Amino acid sequence: MSKPLEGIKIIDFTHVQAGPACTQLLAWFGADVIKVERPGAGDVTRTQLRHVEDADALYFTMLNSNKRSLTLDTKKPEGKRVLEKLIQESDVLVENFGPGALDRMGFSWPRINELNPGMIVASVKGFSDGHHYEDLKVYENVAQCAGGAASTTGFWDGPPTVSAAALGDSNTGMHLAIGILTALHQRNKTGKGQKVAVSMQDSVLNLCRVKLRDQQRLDALGYLEEYPQYPHGQFTDVVPRGGNAGGGGQPGWVLKCKGWETDPNAYIYFTIQGHAWAPICKVLGREEWIDDPAYNTARARQDKIFDIFAVIETWLADKTKFEAVDILRKFDIPCSPVLSMKEISVDPSLRASGTVVEVQHPKLGSYLTVGSPIKFSDMQVDIRSSPLLGEHTDEVLRDLGYTEQQIEELHQEAAV
Ligand code: COA
Repeated sequence: MSKPLEGIKIIDFTHVQAGPACTQLLAWFGADVIKVERPGAGDVTRTQLRHVEDADALYFTMLNSNKRSLTLDTKKPEGKRVLEKLIQESDVLVENFGPGALDRMGFSWPRINELNPGMIVASVKGFSDGHHYEDLKVYENVAQCAGGAASTTGFWDGPPTVSAAALGDSNTGMHLAIGILTALHQRNKTGKGQKVAVSMQDSVLNLCRVKLRDQQRLDALGYLEEYPQYPHGQFTDVVPRGGNAGGGGQPGWVLKCKGWETDPNAYIYFTIQGHAWAPICKVLGREEWIDDPAYNTARARQDKIFDIFAVIETWLADKTKFEAVDILRKFDIPCSPVLSMKEISVDPSLRASGTVVEVQHPKLGSYLTVGSPIKFSDMQVDIRSSPLLGEHTDEVLRDLGYTEQQIEELHQEAAV
């Protein structure tokens, strides 16, 4: 079956997580993604957090599947010539170097545009062009702090907290992928390439837009009724950390289930959605709350929401998180067990849907990775092993028209 992005050639000048997550997605969907890596070293994640000696680390393999690897020293004149040829024959160049690195290498946007006017150059940086922090190098947690996620995550009596979800890295990569596909669509109409830039700060903020909503409501009202601080606590003039609050029109909280004393994940997330109030009361055996004006609207419940959660926890005390969800789902109550990574790794539904995939790697053996979260009716996304360092160097050079002798010379000059 042919893949939608077949025929699109991508120079993957990315490293660590933000860029590789983007190009991996495009490779899954059929693009020919050529990962360009420094000879002898490669992407730093090949060796970071290894658990098998001499094999690429999972950090690398889980972000670089379905790609080819070309080693190329782009600071050497011969390496630069190879890159020029590659640019002339490709559709997209993706990079997430530190600020200015591509320019210093001699491949500024005007130069690339001159070599190939149809080329799309897609970049991830920590901050956007012209930002007063544009010179900063940035990693995941730095971006979470700069994008408003850390100040609004965690509990009110604790420090700003970063999320385990890669809001700064993979999330930025997903934004970049959307930008690249949009630019490719535009190129189909105009024949022209363009520069696509995504900053990690902006991508985090894009996911935190409801917190900017809350800042404006707080400025206007002085309180936020869906936060745990309302009505018994204090507000300042900045959006507070709301713990596990639902954050929208449906109050919710993480609640203890049977076994929580020894199992750190014996919890469910329970949401009190308005329409489900009557079923919730029935489940809890509190039918008298259904029509009681002190309970029967979201506003009436707000000042005693934690008392209500305490009653639900009493109901949960003799039920595992799975038993509880099996009861609650019958009443159409939005809820989920808090799943550990161990539980996710063996979940049969995630395996069946291709979301958790087992991949064979020549040196690492078998490992699990996260497959495409996007499902298509007319395409199956197959996940193949990440490439070994330089595995496709000669193959790519041959595709570019280099003879065997020229390839040998490039090896001898340590340019590839
Ligand atoms: N051949 C020769 N040189 C190469 C090369 C190759 N194939 N690939 C990279 N290099 C060089 C670059 O030209 C650059 O050299 P220079 O600084 O002398 O001009 C250098 O290697 C790499 O620079 P940099 O990207 O800044 O690496 P770093 O390890 O110092 O910083 C980051 C890492 C992630 C902090 C930085 O790349 C960054 O801020 N990126 C943008 C934001 C981002 O994506 N961050 C999150 C990643 S998950």
